[in-house]
Amino acid sequence: MKAVVYDRYGPPDVLRIEDVERPVPKEDEVLVKVHATTVNRLDVHTREANRSNGAAVSMLSRLVSGIRGPRRRILGTEFAGEVEAAGAAVRDFAVGDRVYGNTGLGFGAHAEFLCIREGARIATMPAGASFEEAAPVSDGAFNALWCLRSAELQKGQRILIYGASGAIGTAAVQLARYFEADVTAVCSTKNLELVKSLGADRVIDYTKEDFTRNGEKYDVIFDAVGKHSFDRSNGSLKENGVFVPTDGFKNLFLTLWTARSRGKKVRFQLPPQYAKKDLVLLRQLIETGRFHAVIDRRHALEEVVEATRYVETQQKTGNVVLTVSRA
Ligand SMILES: NC(=O)c1ccc[n+]([C@@H]2O[C@H](COP(=O)([O-])OP(=O)(O)OC[C@H]3O[C@@H](n4cnc5c(N)ncnc54)[C@H](OP(=O)(O)O)[C@@H]3O)[C@@H](O)[C@H]2O)c1
Repeated sequence: MKAVVYDRYGPPDVLRIEDVERPVPKEDEVLVKVHATTVNRLDVHTREANRSNGAAVSMLSRLVSGIRGPRRRILGTEFAGEVEAAGAAVRDFAVGDRVYGNTGLGFGAHAEFLCIREGARIATMPAGASFEEAAPVSDGAFNALWCLRSAELQKGQRILIYGASGAIGTAAVQLARYFEADVTAVCSTKNLELVKSLGADRVIDYTKEDFTRNGEKYDVIFDAVGKHSFDRSNGSLKENGVFVPTDGFKNLFLTLWTARSRGKKVRFQLPPQYAKKDLVLLRQLIETGRFHAVIDRRHALEEVVEATRYVETQQKTGNVVLTVSRA
């Protein structure tokens, strides 16, 4: 089968198309013919062994993915496709089912076929969705759900979502609305209309206004893009407000530190728990028109290097999809 492989950590050019052996499903696994996948930040960070995040994070990244070189040659976490074969013990899926999901650190989705346990993060696709629409649903939404739940976001609370136009941010705006919160979203000028259309109650253009200086207070400030900080957000949090980041070693320390005292908290819980049941929730939200994955660009699998370079600009709006095979 055709797959994108890499044998050493490095720039996007380490990725290449190769013919590799098609995986064979174990008893409790399904073989999925992948129609669409994505290039996301996890792919990008893993491919370069997180060098851009400093020596300590890079060492951790290598401990997870392989010290000298990648243990798993094929990246890609999000997928949508059809069940091609099923192991003898599989009960929930049958050949021909349209499925979507997320392999997480198992990767393997940048290929024509992948194997995944039926109990893992795989579910029937939302009715009426195309493979390209279903593939980018899980990554941003899983991260956003994890963070919003960590913040214990309640109905009627005021949340500010900083970086509302990325994969996590676009998902977070829609999911915070689902939690019935009052949503203020922050992004740059070019994404204002899009973010408003996702359901934000109000949108702040960070190129024109600094939200930390407008006097407004929030129950939750969610930095969905790793560009803000507890220190800078502190004055905009209510007395018992919560700051939720998506990365940063310092935030781990602040989570422990602020847990010991009254008042404002940082909540950064690792490792994130992404659940199969969330795919079912997302399917319901999609089918009832309350959620969709924002797609910035679509590429063919063969254009993976170009797609990856774009994701690395940190300027994508929502998600970048790779079409693996036409349905
Ligand atoms: N997705 C993953 O798999 C993953 C994995 C590990 C960690 N993370 C962490 O999750 C966070 C977000 O990931 P993501 O994939 O959602 O990001 P992303 O999609 O790459 O975010 C891109 C968006 O960020 C916005 N942005 C860029 N610079 C900004 C700034 N200075 N202030 C505010 N917004 C800015 C841009 O829009 P504007 O032009 O509107 O600003 C762009 O739309 C990061 O902290 C990342 O390290 C993600």
